[in-house]
Amino acid sequence: MIQGIGLDIVELDRVARLDGRNTKFRERILSERELHVYETLSGRRKIEYLAGRFAAKEAFSKARGTGIGADCSFLDIEVISEASGRPVLYFHSQLVQGFVSITHTQTVAAAQVVLMEL
Ligand SMILES: CC(C)(COP(=O)(O)OP(=O)(O)OC[C@H]1O[C@@H](n2cnc3c(N)ncnc32)[C@H](O)[C@@H]1OP(=O)(O)O)[C@@H](O)C(=O)NCCC(=O)NCCS
Repeated sequence: MIQGIGLDIVELDRVARLDGRNTKFRERILSERELHVYETLSGRRKIEYLAGRFAAKEAFSKARGTGIGADCSFLDIEVISEASGRPVLYFHSQLVQGFVSITHTQTVAAAQVVLMEL
């Protein structure tokens, strides 16, 4: 049974501005593993990746019904891509029973999360 759904959309220009200042924004959003992937990407792909992860994490926090906060920080959530490219969610390093989908265009990134009951 579905436990919760979450949706989020992020403007790439806003993320590019924040990411362009220094490393703080991406270090607040991306886990070590995600940062490692980010570093392998070039130019615009870095921004798409960061914005997509940001959107996925906000969507996950909405699906939980808590929002981002003390018990659900950006770094508590990881979105890891399988070899096929399919993203999978982890919360506190545990595989999440649910689904995430990410998309980006020239201007925005968006993500949807569906959480299943255990
Ligand atoms: C829930 C959260 C993710 C909302 O994100 P947001 O970017 O402020 O707002 P969005 O436009 O994406 O979403 C707003 C909607 O989220 C929904 N929402 C709010 N709290 C929610 C919750 N606890 N659970 C599920 N959905 C929630 C509401 O429907 C709201 O719309 P409404 O007020 O018209 O009903 C919130 O935890 C948050 O503000 N996180 C951002 C924290 C942050 O540090 N950002 C860094 C920017 S540099």
